[in-house]
Amino acid sequence: MRNLKISAILMLLLIAETVQSQNTGEGGIVSADNAKIEALIKNMTVDEKAGQLTLFMSGWDVTGPTLSTNYQKLIKEGKVGGLFNAYTVDYVREFQRMAVEESRLKIPMIFGYDVIHGHRTIFPIPLGQSCSWNLAAIEQSERIAAQEATAEGLNWTFSPMVDVARDPRWGRVAEGSGEDTWLGSKIAAARVRGFQGTDLKSNNTMMACAKHFAAYGAAQGGRDYHTVDVSELSLYEWYLPPYKACLDAGAGSIMTSFNEIAGVPSTANKWLMTDLLRNDWGFNGFVVTDYTSINEMVNHGNAENNKDAARLAINAGVDMDMMGSTYLDYLPELIKEKKVSMDAVDNAVRWVLKAKMKLGLFDDPYRYCNKSRQENEVMTPDQLAFARKLVAESCVLLKNPGQILPIPETVKTIAIIGPLGDSKKDMLGNWSAAGKWEQCVTLLEGVKSRAGSRVELLYEKGCNTNDGDKRGFEAALKLAQKADFIILALGENGWMSGEAASRSTIDLPGVQNDLAEAMAKTGKPVAVVLFNGRPLTISRLSSLNVAILETWFGGTQAGNGIADLLFGDKNPSGKLTMTFPRNEGQIPIFYNAKNTGRPYNPADSGAKYVSRYLDCSNDPLYPFGYGLSYTTFTYANLETRVDGDKINVTVQVSNTGNRDGEEVVQLYIRDKVGSVTRPVKELKGFQKVNIKKGETKSIAFSLTTADLAFYHPDLKKYWEPGEFTAFAGTNSAETISATFKVN
Ligand code: GLC
Repeated sequence: MRNLKISAILMLLLIAETVQSQNTGEGGIVSADNAKIEALIKNMTVDEKAGQLTLFMSGWDVTGPTLSTNYQKLIKEGKVGGLFNAYTVDYVREFQRMAVEESRLKIPMIFGYDVIHGHRTIFPIPLGQSCSWNLAAIEQSERIAAQEATAEGLNWTFSPMVDVARDPRWGRVAEGSGEDTWLGSKIAAARVRGFQGTDLKSNNTMMACAKHFAAYGAAQGGRDYHTVDVSELSLYEWYLPPYKACLDAGAGSIMTSFNEIAGVPSTANKWLMTDLLRNDWGFNGFVVTDYTSINEMVNHGNAENNKDAARLAINAGVDMDMMGSTYLDYLPELIKEKKVSMDAVDNAVRWVLKAKMKLGLFDDPYRYCNKSRQENEVMTPDQLAFARKLVAESCVLLKNPGQILPIPETVKTIAIIGPLGDSKKDMLGNWSAAGKWEQCVTLLEGVKSRAGSRVELLYEKGCNTNDGDKRGFEAALKLAQKADFIILALGENGWMSGEAASRSTIDLPGVQNDLAEAMAKTGKPVAVVLFNGRPLTISRLSSLNVAILETWFGGTQAGNGIADLLFGDKNPSGKLTMTFPRNEGQIPIFYNAKNTGRPYNPADSGAKYVSRYLDCSNDPLYPFGYGLSYTTFTYANLETRVDGDKINVTVQVSNTGNRDGEEVVQLYIRDKVGSVTRPVKELKGFQKVNIKKGETKSIAFSLTTADLAFYHPDLKKYWEPGEFTAFAGTNSAETISATFKVN
């Protein structure tokens, strides 16, 4: 009886400690784990410690400028902490075997990959998904991605990318959630929850990695890897919150960005990696560099050589070196020369070992090497059906004059014309992980399977995406003459966005605008289906009397999801999360801009001494939050009620069209006077609601004064009493408003 009591007490203590460690964000690490980690560290040689901080790439998928050499030998010597771009059960199992059966201390490796918008089932690019404004769907897409990736041996993803970006020339806007910090933070947390689930030790969850810390999206000129120089106040107000949202959601790792911030590269930035990340934010995961970003500090001019760069990075608080081999090559020497303390190295090793403990890799290094999962949990019908649904929710209807769309039932012949009409490879977009382009459904295939034998389908490429060759126009025009409906498939190739894919001009490339004008001149109904990884300056295209459906790169089920919208089986509900400029001259252009001391008032279009262009409107082509539906919505009776620190806002939204539809009701506020100037609008809430035709819904939002807070020069965040305006509307430019006071 006594023993039973003791074991019960011990069990209760262990449970209490586990719960406590979960609460402290230690992610399931209990004291026994810590004891094991300390014993390991005590037993490790300096070379083994340096190796634990080393991440190499297997040659399966090259995602950077250098290749790994002799990493298999190093794995057997216990000098590699993790491997990336290696997947499938057999491939991972063999490398893990080398680590846990041939090395001295048998420490398991962590296996990472860029699972950015799906693993095998590829979903719309993240910028596209963000336009669904459906946090649950975005979380579910990462849940599925984690399920598939972990079924193929992976347990760590270099995702979510949460860099706020306001410059569409930067190709990596494709990987993010657009220009808004508040929405980007909500989406960031949803993605982390999707990847990590509620138990990182489960074999179908994987560790997230918030990236790229920090402010990588503010690269000057929208040119990838370029300098970032933003004020500290802007850093805190606009760029840092999504990373913090990831960590608050429990992200187990974070990746340093290539860029410098105010003169110091992130990878050597002690203020960023220790003072802010560890001391202020209490981060208890591990920090991995981006691809050779330690070595690149020599190019930055911040380090004399790789050894010096390694010293800077480890002393800044960077734990793991991706592909640089600088820790492996130089930490032992740096310790001998007392330029780096053993404590600093032990600290880094401790964070990496804790991550592996959280993933359950010490309990079972082969936990993610389950053949039957690989055979049964990848690209299942349910996963593909979800992908198709998310494609449709991510698309944004930009124009639909005379209700050209949906395609009328009376249509007998459809001509699909354009360079992206039947391009499997481009449907994946960039960062398509283990996705197979051969498995993608193209627009032509999607329309064919939806239209069936009822419709004759014709197809001509018409032109290439990106050259001056117009010889295909004649055949395209001939085809168009035979059709009673034209679908124009235009846009970018998948490789024109993503990493190292900045563009200085961002209109439709090549002669696609000429093709569009030729098609519009036929007088036939034309629906343009756009495939692109960034906002485009499609002013010429938008001036035509054509419908325009923004579809981004929809991934495996692209063609099917788009066809569901083109034929009206689904009603478009997407809303832009990034502004479309009229031209590059307007960039950077974003909705939450400041009013300036000389604001331009369109009602006074002749005014001279105001903030405006002589040759272009200040307004964007399509604003943040914009997206049409096949029905129409009107807004009325916006009311605010302040009750202490609560601000309740209600608005009535009516479906005034002839079909049911989903509307993203957006709530913005403006703080009219602040000790720090405030934007003309700030998104503070949204609700995606289904409203039946003829129905009116009352939508209620409840804010608190905490939602009105902003950063001050002392970097403290708090709100200031005064007058505010609440805006509700269908996008950031079309709203109704009401003022309220908070004292
Ligand atoms: C790349 C990217 C980063 C990615 C990493 C590994 O250079 O910047 O986002 O996760 O290398 O592929």
